[in-house]
Amino acid sequence: MQDGGVRIFRLDRHVARFQRSAELLCLPQPPADMVAAMIRQLVELCVDDIPEAPGALYLRPSLIGTEENIGAAGAPSAQAMLYVLASPVGDYFSRGGQGLTILIEDQEQRSTPGFGQAKAGGNYASALRHVVKARKEHGADQVLFCPNGDVQETGASNFFLINDSQLLTKPLDASFLHGVTRDSVITLARDLNYEVIERDFTVAEVMDWIQTGEAALSGTAAVLSGVGSFVYKGVTYKVGDGSTGPNTRKLSDALRALQSGRTEDRFGWLS
Ligand SMILES: Cc1ncc(COP(=O)(O)O)c(C=O)c1O
Repeated sequence: MQDGGVRIFRLDRHVARFQRSAELLCLPQPPADMVAAMIRQLVELCVDDIPEAPGALYLRPSLIGTEENIGAAGAPSAQAMLYVLASPVGDYFSRGGQGLTILIEDQEQRSTPGFGQAKAGGNYASALRHVVKARKEHGADQVLFCPNGDVQETGASNFFLINDSQLLTKPLDASFLHGVTRDSVITLARDLNYEVIERDFTVAEVMDWIQTGEAALSGTAAVLSGVGSFVYKGVTYKVGDGSTGPNTRKLSDALRALQSGRTEDRFGWLS
C-alpha cells in the first residue's frame, strides 16, 4: 500500500463466493467469520513476504471433502478440510501494454450451464485441454468460451467489450464465474460515467465491436488486461493497434490505484 500497510481486497465478497461454491459442491459450508479470520491470520504471518504493489499476496482458501467412505460416491461428504494457500505474486499479466491473444471457441463450453458459477477445480480441469491446444496451435494466451455463439468467459477471467462511453458484459447467470473484479470494474466504470450494459451478446457482435472498440479480460490476477488480437476460425483479427486500449488502461489504472491506496477507498473495499 501507499502508506506501507497491508490491506485485503473485498474479503467479504470473496468469502461469500467461497461459501456459495461449497454449497454448489455439496460440501459443508464453513462459517464466513471463520474463513475471514483464517485468511487474516495467514496474512499477518506472511506480512514480511508481501511484495510492493503492483505485486501482491495471492490468497486461495481451499476446501476438500474428507469423509472416509469409499462407497459413498453418490453422497456428499459430511466432513471437509479448509486450508488457505498464500503466495507472493508479481504483475504477471503485464507485458508492457502488449495485448493478449485470445482464441474464440464458439462450440465448446468451459463448464456446464449450471456449474460455471462454482469456483471449483473441476471447472479449470474441464477448460484446460482447450487452453493447452489454443496455446500450442495458435500461440493464444487464453480461450474465450462462447458455446453456440454465446460469449461467456475465458478459462480464468471474465470478458468485457469497451469503448469511449460504454462497457458491455454478460449478465450474471449460473453459467460462469461471478468475478469480484468484474463487479469492481463495473462499479468504477459507472463512477467514471461509462454506461454499463449487462446483456447476452454473440461472437458476431464481438467481431463487429472490435472494428472500433476495445476488448479486455478481468480477474484478480489479470486486473483488467487488454486483448490485442482474437483468433477465430483460423484467422487472426487485430484489436486496435494490438496493445491495451486507452479505456481499458484508464479503468485498469483506476482499480490498481484504489487497490494500492493511491486513491481513496470510497467503496469500502479494503480491510
Ligand atoms: C473462470 C474465471 N472467470 C472469472 C474469473 C475472475 O474472477 P475474479 O475477478 O473474482 O478473480 C476467474 C478468476 O479466478 C476465473 O477463474
